[in-house]
Amino acid sequence: MYDRGIIIPGLIIFVLLVTFPIWYNHGVAGDVPKPELPKDSKKCVDSVNVMRSKHMQLLNEWRDEVLRTGDRAYFELEGKKYQKSLQNACITCHTSKKKFCDTCHEYASVTPYCWDCHLAPVESE
Ligand code: HEC
Ligand code: HEC
Ligand code: HEC
Repeated sequence: MYDRGIIIPGLIIFVLLVTFPIWYNHGVAGDVPKPELPKDSKKCVDSVNVMRSKHMQLLNEWRDEVLRTGDRAYFELEGKKYQKSLQNACITCHTSKKKFCDTCHEYASVTPYCWDCHLAPVESE
């Protein structure tokens, strides 16, 4: 009734094709981004987990505080003072947009429009 000579090899080819991305990448699904971290500081403005998942909210909060209430409040990290600012805080530590911000954003397909107005760091390549 069924032609085993076609169905079994067909199934094997199907399974191989479907799992191709898995074994081709040695079990890793896609290239996970590896943002380059600052070399001369150890701490971010919050824990890595919070930063990973909430940096967009934090930036929005900073922007609102600065623009609506004029509160640029300085804060201290590892003995240095920083301002609530994209350029004067985030970018003083994360000095490459390409090797930091963009690695994740390309992976997650987000293109924040911030750089339409805010200066992106000069890339040193
Ligand atoms: C004082 C320097 C400094 C400042 C200012 C700073 N960062 Fe960080 N950031 C770091 C360091 C160091 C790490 C890695 C921390 C770790 O691994 O424990 C980090 C980690 C992160 C991560 C997580 C990266 C990962 O590997 O998952 C994100 C996202 C991030 N920062 C975004 C920002 C943003 C956005 C700002 C501004 C609101 C900012 N950082 C300000 C030093 C800084
Ligand atoms: C560890 C990975 C990672 C790093 C590093 C990172 N981001 Fe993000 N960022 C994301 C992800 C993922 C999203 C999308 C989150 C979502 O849609 O909920 C995002 C979203 C954003 C957004 C909101 C964009 C939108 O259209 O909603 C802003 C603004 C932003 N990131 C700024 C930055 C800046 C500035 C830096 C560098 C200083 C940076 N991010 C570094 C992962 C990262
Ligand atoms: C249409 C232009 C424009 C765009 C787009 C824009 N900004 Fe701004 N942003 C400004 C201006 C102007 C200020 C006020 C600068 C000042 O007073 O120091 C500001 C201030 C800020 C501040 C506080 C002060 C500072 O020096 O950083 C933050 C944080 C900020 N913006 C974050 C963002 C983020 C995050 C995005 C993207 C999601 C973004 N902005 C997109 C124009 C823009």
